[in-house]
Amino acid sequence: MNPFNPILRKKLAEITALNLPIEIIATSHGVIWRDNPLQIVKKYAEWASDYQENQITIIYDTMWNGTKLLAEKIAEGIRQADQDVNVKVYNLAKSDENDLITEVFKSKTVVIGSPTMGNSILHSVAGFIHLMKLLKFKGKKAAAFGCYGWSGESVKVINELMANAGFEVVSEGYKNQWNPDVDAQREAVDFGKAIAL
Ligand SMILES: Cc1cc2nc3c(=O)[nH]c(=O)nc-3n(C[C@H](O)[C@H](O)[C@H](O)COP(=O)(O)O)c2cc1C
Repeated sequence: MNPFNPILRKKLAEITALNLPIEIIATSHGVIWRDNPLQIVKKYAEWASDYQENQITIIYDTMWNGTKLLAEKIAEGIRQADQDVNVKVYNLAKSDENDLITEVFKSKTVVIGSPTMGNSILHSVAGFIHLMKLLKFKGKKAAAFGCYGWSGESVKVINELMANAGFEVVSEGYKNQWNPDVDAQREAVDFGKAIAL
């Protein structure tokens, strides 16, 4: 749907207003709808209206798995705070970007993680945020996390990029120096709980 959903909404309203008895929808590419063709029109209307489900998606990349551990602990915290929300965790380097974008599309909140590298973030994470920006999502929340060694800019960079991509950044984010120890893991769980609320 994204980023063309506003155009789609307008066109659907125009066609619905004609009140035509629609027997078949034969698109120029894709499936042909013969059985109750309006079912897909209704679905498109739903998907084009800044669609979201009760889902929080955590997407991260990592060099040495510290940020991965934070991601898992944040997910644990979200699940503890809200048993109904669907929490999904993805390693960007091991996932198909198209699948991840579908998960973002379904999400009410997206939590992005990257370690600090070169006073910034991993280029995989920067590229994925750029892709989300192009798709012009609306009405979604965001938060950031990541491990660092000495200067720790990643969370701030992600927050700025996500705000610039049209997300509402709902937290200052969570950063941890080097590999997360027991205390840091507990803090990450608490961070997850705060995001869920
Ligand atoms: C090539 C490279 C560049 C880094 N640059 C920075 C940096 O600019 N600032 C910083 O705070 N940490 C920097 N770090 C340290 C990492 O952020 C730190 O090791 C972190 O714990 C890695 O997290 P991870 O286990 O999720 O990969 C750098 C590490 C590497 C390997």
